[in-house]
Amino acid sequence: RILILDFGSQYTQLIARRIRQANVYCEIHPCDWPTAEIEAFAPMGIVLTGGPESVHVDNAPRIPDIVFQLGVPVLGICYGMQAMARQLGGQVEPSAYKEFGYAQARARGHSRLLRNIEDHTTPEGYGLLDVWMSHGDRVAGLPEGFKVIASTLGAPIAGIGDDERRFYGLQFHPEVTHTTQGQRIIERFVGEICGCSGQWTASNIIEHSVTRIREEVGTDQVLLGLSGGVDSSVVAALLHQAIGEQLTCVFVDNGLLRLNEGAQVMATFARHMGVRVIHVNAEERFLTRLAGVVDPERKRKLIGRIFIDVFDEQAGKLDGVKWLAQGTIYPDVIESAGAKTGKARLIKSHHNVGGLPERMNLRLLEPLRSLFKDEVRCIGLELGLPTELVYRHPFPGPGLGVRILGEVRKEYADALRRADAIFIEELRHYELYDRVSQAFAVFLPVKTVGVTGDGRRYEYVIALRAVETTDFMTAQWSHLPYELLEEVSRRIINEAEGISRVVYDISGKPPATIEWE
Ligand code: XMP
Repeated sequence: RILILDFGSQYTQLIARRIRQANVYCEIHPCDWPTAEIEAFAPMGIVLTGGPESVHVDNAPRIPDIVFQLGVPVLGICYGMQAMARQLGGQVEPSAYKEFGYAQARARGHSRLLRNIEDHTTPEGYGLLDVWMSHGDRVAGLPEGFKVIASTLGAPIAGIGDDERRFYGLQFHPEVTHTTQGQRIIERFVGEICGCSGQWTASNIIEHSVTRIREEVGTDQVLLGLSGGVDSSVVAALLHQAIGEQLTCVFVDNGLLRLNEGAQVMATFARHMGVRVIHVNAEERFLTRLAGVVDPERKRKLIGRIFIDVFDEQAGKLDGVKWLAQGTIYPDVIESAGAKTGKARLIKSHHNVGGLPERMNLRLLEPLRSLFKDEVRCIGLELGLPTELVYRHPFPGPGLGVRILGEVRKEYADALRRADAIFIEELRHYELYDRVSQAFAVFLPVKTVGVTGDGRRYEYVIALRAVETTDFMTAQWSHLPYELLEEVSRRIINEAEGISRVVYDISGKPPATIEWE
């Protein structure tokens, strides 16, 4: 396994994902991780990330000396390379020619790291790489034992290597997709140079997790709030494989779910896989409490609170439960560690169970804590979950509660459920579901006039939303084909009760958010 020491780069997670894509396990830890921990981790190689600092500032983060004493390969990227060069006796200086963005790097000196990896070749036979640079400082003098292995216009020393000690540095970022050969460079480092053999595959992850879960849980009973979303579904499947009958899931139908969601969850988990699932129908309770509440944040909080009450009551009826399982995944762990709260691990708020473990004295079980979303999906498929479930669009915890603008009513929820199902069905039919990141319908409690046959209708509006995004922080509206939109509109007006008009949302994020509330 590989250790990534984080100096604060915005790309740190990307490095980890690239290494995992090469089927090699890695973990991210802060650059001041204690020496004893680094030794205990026993990495087969170490990657030093970039970072926002200059090596020249006071208290610039240092690479722990142990990194160079373990006898394992080291790859420093950007700041990581500069810090390595400086600490091993080279020189770093502010660059007069700052490079941000695309550059071409000439590979030199036949290093083990870059040998035969190239995008183009010069007439003289040198390899050229298309790379992504972002730096103000640059290495100006080599430490002893190192050769120049790449150069760009702005950085004559854009890559350094000591094949003997297997220490390498790159000024450019191999982890970003703009560096077209980046994945190959990372695979060369973790594979050939560090000798990691690519065993981090779905079936090995499952085997490894099953063993750990069994060790951790023993003969205890475990409780899981199953939402029908990807993460909690994969946790359910994994725990079922690991501990079978010791797992009990609670599925709360709050009346704000998608069409047939409860039936699907029961079919997949209870009937098909034999997982014990308690299906709680709490629709009336939620809708009664939500009556008259129009403010989005109040609705969110109220839905969360009722969920906790319902879940709590169910859990109270079970005997001997010691663990609460959660679908926390690696990006959540990195983010909450990054936020340096200093507090106990944050519970993912959208799982709606904040506060439970303390009150109920349950220990947290988080079997997906070290996995990225794509790995979670891979093991979900390997565990036999249906593809549609594993690749489902995200669905907010408060569900249709934030997609019915203003007051939530059952008749609105029913109309919205139907409209949403039609939209999704047609997207799948046009094979566009997997091309958009998130798509859904929104209920607008505004009446507009329509005509059907000879009759006049005065009914509600449905808005359709479809966006494309990688991180959900920014998003573009999808340019869906007119024929699809027309078909969806026609079907919604004909098939969903009380709707006389359909509109399409063409707002980007920012300034609009993805959800309407
Ligand atoms: P916004 O609307 O903020 O949404 O652009 C970004 C992503 O977050 C989801 N979302 C939520 N998820 N509880 C959740 O679990 C919430 O209250 C919530 N609000 C928004 C939204 O669906 C989108 O994927």
